Amino acid sequence: MLTLGIETSCDETGVALLENERIVSQRIASQESLHSLFGGVVPELASREHLRLLPLLLEAVEVESQISCNEVHNIAVARGPGLLGSLLVGLGMAKGCVLGTGANLVGVNHLIAHLLVSQLEERIKFPALGVLVSGGHTQIYMMHSCFDTRLLGRTLDDAMGEAFDKTAKLLNLPYPGGKYIDELAALSKPDKTMFPCPYLDNQNLDFSFSGLKTAMSNFLKKNNLSLSVLDPSPDIQTLARENPDLSKLCASFNWSMANTLYTKVKRALSREKEVQTLLVAGGVASNSCLRETMQQLAQELAVNLILPRRSLCTDNAVMIAYTGYLLAQQGYTHDLSLEGIPRGKPIPWDYNNSA
Ligand code: KG4
Ligand code: ZN
Repeated sequence: MLTLGIETSCDETGVALLENERIVSQRIASQESLHSLFGGVVPELASREHLRLLPLLLEAVEVESQISCNEVHNIAVARGPGLLGSLLVGLGMAKGCVLGTGANLVGVNHLIAHLLVSQLEERIKFPALGVLVSGGHTQIYMMHSCFDTRLLGRTLDDAMGEAFDKTAKLLNLPYPGGKYIDELAALSKPDKTMFPCPYLDNQNLDFSFSGLKTAMSNFLKKNNLSLSVLDPSPDIQTLARENPDLSKLCASFNWSMANTLYTKVKRALSREKEVQTLLVAGGVASNSCLRETMQQLAQELAVNLILPRRSLCTDNAVMIAYTGYLLAQQGYTHDLSLEGIPRGKPIPWDYNNSA
């Protein structure tokens, strides 16, 4: 079964082709350099870039795979949550392909796709605890099967990636700055007392990262620390050499973020005793300190850990194609009335089940 995946929910444009679970071809185009000029994603520009890039990526996938859109059985498309204008570009392309080819249309929940794509590397043993850490979301799910998921906790304000990126902006690092904080952090040991681990003194599984960002802002003001010039493509070794406090600051921030996640995930695992797999996914799951901390936790509690390779953590179209394939296999498809769902709104389970 051939499934084409289309991802346009934020600032990455992606197209991937899967034959069953095998990646035949994939292309991803990042808009980072465009949005970094503005310190964050500009929705209107993102939509226009998706519109420009999507046909080029689709053609590149067709050429590389020697498989035309006409031969594809399913067209899977990220239908939300995301930027509505950006989602509409992907949906328009997907619906056009479906009209032209007669393939099945499958709308995919971008968040669940982040979690499920790890199965391309290792089967998830259910029940699993799914931890999704991305630029727009920080959520803990109880997963009884691929599509039977229950939300246990979520962020009340900033998502982890958002907190990383806003902190990087305070430091005058380019957008999206999570990876630069991570790279700088690798050059130093953390001071575990420098920043708080926020919102732990409660019994719930929710998060609140905005306080940590404010703590960083206050620290920078008090010590008059932040880079004087924003270099759009900084050399990390040079930055660290010229700014001796920077890597310690990043290592300490990184540690507070990872340790906050550790505490809440440990709490969730101690409550959900039947969990067999701890699954951590989303862009921030690329973070080295977070990966180490989750490995430590999994060892401590003797639970199987799945951490997808970094290229599957950040936004990509493989995860959309794979989730669409799983759905289509079970007969879950959409008709052309499929709608995009912006961030903050629940994603309905509105498939036409032909199985
Ligand atoms: O999952 P993703 O690619 O897009 C969303 O669905 O949001 O996640 C992007 C987020 C950004 O905030 C980015 O800064 C963050 O993931 N990120 C990182 C790292 N790599 C990407 N944050 C911390 N450390 C990293 N190594
Ligand atoms: Zn994402």
